[in-house]
Amino acid sequence: MLPSTTRPKQTGGRELARIVFDQETIAKRVAELGQEITAAYPDGELLVLGLLKGSFIFLGDLVRQIDRPLQVDFLVAASYGADTVSSGTVRLLYDPETRLDGKHILVVEDIVDTGKTLNRLLSILAARSPKSLEICALLHKHVAEHLGREVKFVGFDCPKEFIVGYGLDHAENFRHLPYIASLR
Ligand code: PRP
Repeated sequence: MLPSTTRPKQTGGRELARIVFDQETIAKRVAELGQEITAAYPDGELLVLGLLKGSFIFLGDLVRQIDRPLQVDFLVAASYGADTVSSGTVRLLYDPETRLDGKHILVVEDIVDTGKTLNRLLSILAARSPKSLEICALLHKHVAEHLGREVKFVGFDCPKEFIVGYGLDHAENFRHLPYIASLR
């Protein structure tokens, strides 16, 4: 039985399997991540690079919990179509305008699943001589076989279910749910 805090109209009547992380749990963990990131970067320019579209809500909440100067830019890559299984193809549709050399780069992802998206992106970004290059992922499935780089900041370990909400979609739907849920 889902808690009454879900708003059935938001899902267009589609039934969710369960709430995986509710709003309060997410807010608490995002605040902790903000503190961890603040402490990890005592000096230097910090550029937070949000990977769209999935990270848009997480990124917005996260940067407001980071207590230091920073800049924000975005990357757009697409790897999934309207299916629930990764296609394995990553397309870079938007590249940040900002220069990366000499800056601390923190890539913000909503979810690490197969790791293909990150592996492809990180090799592109590493070639641009950042001072450091790290990843912050809200959710980590821990199923990626060849992740080229450890995910330094992880919000939650993610169950091996198809997850939507708080930025994550299925066929572009459900991104606006304020909680994280799994689909039936
Ligand atoms: C999803 C998700 C991650 C990526 C994770 O993005 O937002 O970026 O896939 O999968 P992987 O670890 O198997 O590569 P998607 O391509 O669906 O685009 P979106 O962010 O616009 O939803």
